[in-house]
Formats: sequence, structure tokens, C-alpha cells
Amino acid sequence: MRLVLPVFFLISVLFLNETLASKIKLTNVKCESFNQSWVTIDHCRLRAINRYKTVCNINATFHHPATKIKVRYQVLKRANGYKPWLLDATIDACAFMKKPNHPVGKIIYNMIKNCSTVTHTCPYVGLQYVKNFYVTPEQIPLPLPSGDYALFLTWLFSDKPQFATNVYFTFTEDLLKQ
Ligand SMILES: *[C@@H]1O[C@H](CO)[C@@H](O)[C@H](O)[C@H]1NC(C)=O
Ligand SMILES: *[C@@H]1O[C@H](CO)[C@@H](O)[C@H](O)[C@H]1NC(C)=O
Ligand SMILES: *[C@@H]1O[C@H](CO)[C@@H](O)[C@H](O)[C@H]1NC(C)=O
Repeated sequence: MRLVLPVFFLISVLFLNETLASKIKLTNVKCESFNQSWVTIDHCRLRAINRYKTVCNINATFHHPATKIKVRYQVLKRANGYKPWLLDATIDACAFMKKPNHPVGKIIYNMIKNCSTVTHTCPYVGLQYVKNFYVTPEQIPLPLPSGDYALFLTWLFSDKPQFATNVYFTFTEDLLKQ
């Protein structure tokens, strides 16, 4: 009996992960431009694909070339309002696109590179979009407890905040692993 449980857990972690997997669902997205003369947000919405899956679509237009781009990322967890949790830092996006070696940058980039215009080195100008974006639990290599979370991305040009894209999601931990 003493061995059965740990072995069962190990098997569940190793082999059943796919079917009994944790779940992530996008619940909201909010975008805001702080400087309309540089960035306008044309579209910022979730679309329900089915009961379990929603995708995010964002279009923004950069009216002038952005040559110095940084991204502040914050992960927040809801507990009487969204509270900063775990991560809050800033990445030099232009340096990253030249040499993608920042660990958190890589996680975020791997999530969006598939479905967005954020795929080349700086500068960026004109329409930028994220199309049918969603997140799978495998893309989050952190042990998250179940709950409501938010990923706030604040985009800075020349060190000044220009716009924010804030995504909200619920994470349901694999029950067998709890
Ligand atoms: C707002 O955007 C303009 C370009 O349209 C830029 O010259 C100006 O520095 C920006 N303001 C801030 C506070 O970033
Ligand atoms: C947003 O961008 C998509 C391309 O991904 C385009 O088809 C769509 O018309 C754009 N919508 C708006 C409101 O700009
Ligand atoms: C990435 O692209 C693959 C192949 O086109 C697709 O199956 C997958 O759903 C995409 N992932 C995301 C997060 O959009």
C-alpha cells in the first residue's frame, strides 16, 4: 500500500498527463493605449471556440517606427483583487529578438510567435497583431496552484509606457497531482 500510491502518482504524472491534464482558459483581455499618437488598439477581444477554449485576438497599429521596445511582464493572482505574484520584470524586446536568451522572454515568445507579427528584429511599424492566441498548460513550466491569474504586458517605447495588453485566465490544476 505504501508503494502503490507513489507509483500511481508517478505513472499519472508521466503517462496520463495528456488526458488528465491541467486546464487553462482565457477569461478576459484588456488593452489600453497610453499614447494614441503612437499606438492605437484596433481590436482586443476573446472569442469562444467551445466551452473549454477561448482565443485572443489583438490588433494594434504603430503609427511611427518603434526602435527601442521593452516589455514589462507581471503575473498576478486573484485574491481580493489581482495581486502581484511571482513575476514582475522588464525585458529588452529588441535585444531579445536579436538574441533570444532570456528565459521568461522565451516562454512568452514561444506562446505568441506562432500567431503574431512579433517575429522579427526591431524596428516595428504599422499593424501588429496576435491572432487566435491561446495557452496550453505545457507552455507554462511553473507549478501553478489552481486559481484566477492575469498576465500584464506593458509595452515601452524609448523607456516610456505606450500600451498594455492584459490577459486574464483561470488555471485548473490536474486533480491527481494535488
Ligand atoms: C507619444 O508618441 C509620440 C509619437 O507619436 C512621441 O513623440 C512621444 O514621445 C510619445 N510620448 C510619450 C510620453 O511616450
Ligand atoms: C485585425 O487583423 C486581422 C489580421 O490578423 C485582420 O484580418 C482584421 O481585419 C483586423 N481587424 C481590425 C479591426 O483591424
Ligand atoms: C501553433 O501552430 C500549430 C501548427 O500550425 C497549431 O497546431 C497550434 O495550435 C498553434 N499554437 C498556438 C498556441 O496557436
